[in-house]
Amino acid sequence: MTRYLAFLAVAVVATISFLGFQGKVSKDTPVYVFDDMDTQAKYKAQGENQFFADGRDARPPVAGTVARGNGLEPLKVFSADYRRAESLNPSFVSGKDAKGSFLAGFPTQSLKLTKGQPQPYAVDAAVLALGQAKYQVYCAVCHGDAADGNGIMKVRSALEGDVAIVTIASLQTPVIRAYPNGQIYDVITNGKNTMMGYGDKLSPEERWAVVAYLRALQLSQNCPPELAPAAVKAQIK
Ligand code: HEC
Repeated sequence: MTRYLAFLAVAVVATISFLGFQGKVSKDTPVYVFDDMDTQAKYKAQGENQFFADGRDARPPVAGTVARGNGLEPLKVFSADYRRAESLNPSFVSGKDAKGSFLAGFPTQSLKLTKGQPQPYAVDAAVLALGQAKYQVYCAVCHGDAADGNGIMKVRSALEGDVAIVTIASLQTPVIRAYPNGQIYDVITNGKNTMMGYGDKLSPEERWAVVAYLRALQLSQNCPPELAPAAVKAQIK
């Protein structure tokens, strides 16, 4: 029995020292016992494929195909008034007014048409909830849950002697707080310097929702005293 236990202990230690712990960060090529579908037989964009005469994996669209929308919202994109809603309310899509300046606040009209007319746009609890969900998926990894620039990317990039990605911006600075809403919308759509754009991943509605949620995060870290609840106000000296 003792010998068996000793053998088991040696086997466990040997296995762990050979394979490492699950989730450990390492630059070495992993030893795969179970590859957890890390590598799969599949065709990739820009890949080579002998099956097709042109040798390409990615198939070109059928001749005469016209791109419409970003493919995330097929129902809306294929609705009869899709383009019409955008042309009636271009600010909602561009984040800019008719003169090309960034909208200071939120658009006043939405892309929803009733009897052919855009409906008013209002930031409500549903918009904030949508913004929170999208922010947490698309922004928090870099900018952090509190938008202070301390997301997991900064922590991870500093591991194992690498240089932390210091360029990840804190969105809690006076400069970014003073941005017009349209400018934040524009950064989300088109990116800025080393940040890539998310226009192909977030619909205009989702981008405005992220702007609204980011404003809530900024308020949460920099709340003017007059907006604080009475119980908190009483404690402010
Ligand atoms: C992969 C990391 C990454 C993700 C994800 C990311 N950002 Fe950024 N973001 C950056 C970096 C890096 C900068 C600084 C860019 C620069 O100026 O070099 C930046 C800058 C910004 C700025 C300031 C731009 C300026 O004018 O200075 C805003 C606003 C911003 N991000 C918002 C967002 C929002 C909203 C999301 C989610 C939709 C998001 N970011 C997702 C990396 C990221």
